[in-house]
Amino acid sequence: MNLFSRRSSGVSEELVWQALSTVQEPELGGDLVSRKMIKDLKIEGGRVGFTVELTTPACPLKDQIENETRAAVMKVAGVQEVVVGFSANVKQRPGLFDKAGIPGVTHVIAVASGKGGVGKSTVATNLAVALAQDGARVGLLDADVYGPSAPIMLGLKGKQPMVQDGKMVPLEAHGLKVISIGFMVPESQALIFRGPIISSMLRQFLYDTLWGDLDYLVVDLPPGTGDIQLTLAQAIPLSGSVIVTTPQDVALADVTRGIEMFKKLSVPILGLIENMSFFRCPHCGERSEIFSHGGAVKASKQFDVPFLGEIPLSLAIREGGDVGEPAVTKTQPEAFAESFRDVARNLAGRVSVEAYA
Ligand SMILES: Nc1ncnc2c1ncn2[C@@H]1O[C@H](COP(=O)(O)OP(=O)(O)OP(=O)(O)O)[C@@H](O)[C@H]1O
Ligand SMILES: [Mg+2]
Repeated sequence: MNLFSRRSSGVSEELVWQALSTVQEPELGGDLVSRKMIKDLKIEGGRVGFTVELTTPACPLKDQIENETRAAVMKVAGVQEVVVGFSANVKQRPGLFDKAGIPGVTHVIAVASGKGGVGKSTVATNLAVALAQDGARVGLLDADVYGPSAPIMLGLKGKQPMVQDGKMVPLEAHGLKVISIGFMVPESQALIFRGPIISSMLRQFLYDTLWGDLDYLVVDLPPGTGDIQLTLAQAIPLSGSVIVTTPQDVALADVTRGIEMFKKLSVPILGLIENMSFFRCPHCGERSEIFSHGGAVKASKQFDVPFLGEIPLSLAIREGGDVGEPAVTKTQPEAFAESFRDVARNLAGRVSVEAYA
């Protein structure tokens, strides 16, 4: 508390609070002070330090918030240095679950697509890893009963989760906790399941897995928007959904069906992602829009749902999926990895908006 002393430092704590209250939360609205996002304010001489408590560690607007708070506080008389720290408190949407929540899991996000083969699993996996890279606690549930892909995409083929006190212990890879229908069932069997069995199996995966504390559980749904997807989406206490599409598949009908399915279930649509959006030549850098481009942006405007971003068509993305090393784990600053990170942050931002709205 002595650190707050005005007389010894010469910097007025009151003026610092006032300065901070001029900074708006860019996405949720309201200022940072009224939203109680400023913690641990300390003043030592001309040095002012505080922590901004974000609604997600993968906040897309972290840099903006840092710049604006620093600029505002620097204007206060006597301030020479501003140290901005960040923490995150990921909160649930109030009154969200009529279904029982999954113990320890704050947000369940479904990744869906109007049709198969658009890269839904690739996108779901890379987004989950990107969120974990930003410091979130993330799980991935591969609920694609038609063709589970997490075992291959995350390099877990042939492995099986252990059972502890009648509950499954998820496998871990690339910072994620992972459960896949593919860990339990040989590929050849997956297709013969019927709706009710799938639904009860999924419930087991959700509720009888020792997920531990997770900020986000990303669920890769089977492709399409038919009965099975509807049953699955109904069985899960979802915070929101993401629809993956490719430019040429934005045959509006596909996206419309996806949007309608989630609306029917009152699940917020966090946004659309355009995968295989363009190709950048690795030699000359030229961008080609092989399947045309921008369809998802148009669809998002038409249906008034957010657009979360575009992922390029890239050999490295395909290869990464085949060898169990998601593209976003590449350490060199690759544009495709960056595009996953951008989309992941936009997604986390939308989840916060829904949770705090
Ligand atoms: N942006 C991309 N660039 C290059 N290849 C990609 C990209 N996205 C996905 N792929 C490749 O396309 C194929 C299909 O991707 P994926 O399995 O993720 O699609 P899906 O929508 O989950 O398919 P399904 O409907 O079978 O579940 C995979 O070989 C994957 O590596
Ligand atoms: Mg898939």
